Amino acid sequence: MKMKLLLFLSCVLSVSAEGLHDDLRINGCSESDGEFLYALDGEEKWFADFKKKQGVYPQPPFIDPITYGEGVYENAVADLHVCKSNLDVCRRGMKDIPVENDPPSRVMIYPRDDIEPGQKNILICHVSGFYPAPVRVQWTRNGLNVTGESSINVPFPNNDGYFTQISRLDFVPQLGDIYSCSVEHVALQEPQTRIWDVEDDAPQPSLGPSVFCGVGLTVGLLGVAAGTFFLIKGNECR
Ligand SMILES: *[C@@H]1O[C@H](CO)[C@@H](O)[C@H](O)[C@H]1NC(C)=O
Repeated sequence: MKMKLLLFLSCVLSVSAEGLHDDLRINGCSESDGEFLYALDGEEKWFADFKKKQGVYPQPPFIDPITYGEGVYENAVADLHVCKSNLDVCRRGMKDIPVENDPPSRVMIYPRDDIEPGQKNILICHVSGFYPAPVRVQWTRNGLNVTGESSINVPFPNNDGYFTQISRLDFVPQLGDIYSCSVEHVALQEPQTRIWDVEDDAPQPSLGPSVFCGVGLTVGLLGVAAGTFFLIKGNECR
C-alpha cells in the first residue's frame, strides 16, 4: 500500500514540475451504452453510473475529496441524450458504414497485493487495446460463475484511441483455488480467457531458517552429550 502511495505522489510531482496536467472529460455513447467521466492525469475523479442512476466518486481514501456541484448527474444524463441523438443522425448520414472493430490486444490477471492464504485480496483483470468500448468480463472460481461478486470500471480512452477497462474481484486466497476471467468483445468470436492459480503466487513455506536451527540444535546437543561422556570417562579413569 505504501509503495502505491509513493508511486502516486511521485507521478503527481513530476507532472507538476512541468506545469502540465491532463484534465479530461469523457462523454460517449453507443446504441446500448453510455459513459460520462471526469479524470485528472489518468485518475478517475467522477463518473455517472447510468445503470444505478447516480454519480460515483471512485477516489481512494488517502486523497482530499474532490466534489462536483448539484445536478452533475442530471447534466450527464442530458449529455447522454444529446450523444445518442447525434449518433443517430451520424449513422443515417453515413449510411451505417461499418465501424472499426479491434479486439483487446492485452488481457492480464493478477492479484493486487502479495498473496497470504486466508487474507482478503483483490484479483484484477486488466483489459486494454480494444475498440469500440465496452468489454464484458466474466469470472469463475473453480469453474463456478462468480461474476456477480465482481465490478468493472468505465472504459478509459488511451492516447492511441483504444480503450482500457479493469475488472475487480474481491477474494480470499485459499490454496488449490483456481480463478479465471473471460473477456467478451464485439470483435471476438470466443471470449479471451486468463487463468490464475493461487498456488503459483502463494509464498513457499521457507524451510531455510528452521532447518538451520534444527541442525544447529542437534550439533549442540551432540556436543553436550560427548562432553558429558568424556567427563564421566575421565572421572572413572582417575
Ligand atoms: C454469470 O453470472 C452473471 C450474473 O451474476 C450473468 O450475467 C452471466 O451471464 C453468468 N455467466 C455465465 C457464463 O453463466
